[in-house]
Amino acid sequence: MTKKVKNQSLSKARDAKQDEFYTQLSDIEQELKHYKKHFKNKVVYCNCDDPRVSNFFFYFSYNFEKLGLKKLITTCYKNQSRDLFSRNDSEQAVYLEYTGDNHRTGVPDPEKIGIKHLKGDGDFRSAESVELLKQADIVVTNPPFSLFREYVAQLIEYDKKFVIVGNQNAISYKEIFNLIVKNKLWLGNKSGDMEFKVPACYEARETRYWVDADGQKWRSMGNACWYTNFDIAKRHENIILYKKYSPEAYPTYANYDAIEVGKISDIPVDYEGAMGVPLTFLDKYNVDQFEIVGSSTMLAIPMAEVAKKGTYSQGTQRFYLANGDGTYRRLYDRIVIKSKKPKD
Ligand SMILES: C[S@@+](CC[C@H](N)C(=O)[O-])C[C@H]1O[C@@H](n2cnc3c(N)ncnc32)[C@H](O)[C@@H]1O
Repeated sequence: MTKKVKNQSLSKARDAKQDEFYTQLSDIEQELKHYKKHFKNKVVYCNCDDPRVSNFFFYFSYNFEKLGLKKLITTCYKNQSRDLFSRNDSEQAVYLEYTGDNHRTGVPDPEKIGIKHLKGDGDFRSAESVELLKQADIVVTNPPFSLFREYVAQLIEYDKKFVIVGNQNAISYKEIFNLIVKNKLWLGNKSGDMEFKVPACYEARETRYWVDADGQKWRSMGNACWYTNFDIAKRHENIILYKKYSPEAYPTYANYDAIEVGKISDIPVDYEGAMGVPLTFLDKYNVDQFEIVGSSTMLAIPMAEVAKKGTYSQGTQRFYLANGDGTYRRLYDRIVIKSKKPKD
C-alpha cells in the first residue's frame, strides 16, 4: 500500500457525521487473539456490520469452528449495496445468522448463508436489532463514533459482554468515565494508531489521510482504542514503579487534595493518598494495583473558591498548581488514583 498524504484543501463540511471507518482484519485479529477462550459456545453479534463487507463478519465466520462459536449474527445499517462505500441510502437493512458449517473451506459466502431483510433500517437501537441483541452473549464491532455514548449505554443496559473499537477521546465523556470508575468498562489491549478505509465521498485532509495505489481512500486515528468488559490479562499486569514520594518532587494541587504525577512511570510506590495522573494511565491500569477515584473534571474545586480572580486562567474544571509567585497554572485533565498496596 502506498501512503500519500495529500495536501488537498480541507473540507469545511467536517461537521457531518463521519461514521464510515472500516476496520482492518489485521487490527481485529491482533486484538481478538487475547479473548479467544471467551467465545466458546457463545452467540456473537456484530450490530454495525454489513455481513457482505465487514471484516468482523469475516473474522468470526472464518474462525467460527476454531473459536467454538454457537452463532454469529451481523446486522448492517441502511446500506443494502454490496459496495462498501455506498452511502447508507437505503432505509431497509439486511442481517445474517450463521451457525457454522464443518465441511466448508475458507470464508462462508454471506449470499449462501442467506441474507435476510430487516423491516427497518438496522439502527442498533431499533426494536428488531434489540431483539437480536438480547440473543447475543458478546457484541464485537466498531460502532459509529458519533453515537458512542448511546451505543455503550445500550450494551450496559442489556448486560452484554463486549469488545468494541472507539476513540480515546471518549474517556473524557462523563458517561464513559463513570463506567470506568465503576469498573464496568476498560481499555482493551491495543491503543494508538489505527488505519481505516473510508468512502470515496470523504473529503481530503491535510493529515491522517491518503489514497492508495488502487484509489482507495484511507484515514488514520492516532488515538483509537478498544473498549471491553472482559477481564483481560493486561488488567492485572503490574506497572513497575521505583520512585519514592517527597513533597518537593510531587506538589499538591491548589484545588484538590492530591499530588501531581506528570508521568505514569513517576508514580511514587510509597504514597498512600490521592494522585493525579495523565489519561494515558488507563492504558496501563492494573485493577489489583490501583483504584480510580475520579477525574479532575469531576473532582476539582472551582478556582474561584481557592484563589483571587486574575491569578489563574479559566476553562473547564481542572486541577491547578501554584507557580510560587501568587499565580496558578492549569493542567491537562487528570485521573485521580490511589494505590491499593503502597509499599514502604
Ligand atoms: C466506524 S464504522 C465501522 C463499520 C464496521 N463495523 C467496521 O468496523 O468495519 C460504523 C458503522 O456503523 C454504521 N452505523 C451508523 N449509525 C448506525 C446506527 N444508528 N445503527 C447501526 N449502525 C450504524 C455506519 O453505517 C458504519 O458502517
